[in-house]
Amino acid sequence: MTASPGKPQIRRFDDLEALSQAAADDLAAIAVAAVAARGVCHVALSGGSTPRRLFQLLIQRGPGALPWARLVLWWGDERAVPPEHPESNYGMAREALIDPARAFGLPTAQVHRMAGELADRDAAARAYESALVAALGAPPRLDYAMQGMGPDGHTASLFPDTPALAETARWVVANHVTSPVAHGIADRITLTAPALSAARHVRFLVAGADKAAALAHVLTGPRDPVHYPSQLIAPADGDLIWMVDRAAAASLGGLV
Ligand code: 6PG
Repeated sequence: MTASPGKPQIRRFDDLEALSQAAADDLAAIAVAAVAARGVCHVALSGGSTPRRLFQLLIQRGPGALPWARLVLWWGDERAVPPEHPESNYGMAREALIDPARAFGLPTAQVHRMAGELADRDAAARAYESALVAALGAPPRLDYAMQGMGPDGHTASLFPDTPALAETARWVVANHVTSPVAHGIADRITLTAPALSAARHVRFLVAGADKAAALAHVLTGPRDPVHYPSQLIAPADGDLIWMVDRAAAASLGGLV
């Protein structure tokens, strides 16, 4: 599934299952091409609940689903909780993807967790940025940036009206959010919009009726990234595909 670089493409699916199946196919194609070209595939996972089904499908598909031994995992964001906390983005991925994938050859050393639990989150963000830049250069050019979108139009931990939205010099920052959809976890670490936009392939996976209004604003409304931060993600030299289910696309109509 390829898209014209720079112009957001929208793929509609009946439901989360169909969306997740297509996302697994798409990620596999990107990963195989990345490994063929550079010997490795760097993926930033999104948090939240939407990716869980994709992770489960990748494991069900087994050793052939991805070039597991050549995969390097990062995160787009993390909440200020320890890995075992039920709201940890890493914790969900560890249970649904990382631990099972060890049997397929995913090396522990290639899984880079954000230490959201550290009291000095700025130091944790700077350490993560150092690791990212050491692996990928500056800007850190991921092969695949997996993005979710909240019902308020946020992505990663780039929430409306928060300081991280204006960050253009750093690739990873701490952010303090007060959004009612932040699961009650105000302190975060997040990749910045320039870091996410540097990716070769950006994929928004958006499912559920609660996303419909925000998705319509982000894709068809006026440019308003302070209130709809997902609008900030615009790859200059990469492609962006919105993979959305019918419920999330309900307010798009024939507009896009
Ligand atoms: C986070 C996530 C966030 C998520 C969206 C969608 O840490 O909160 O990274 O950006 O992707 O909120 O979450 P759902 O998939 O649960 O709807």
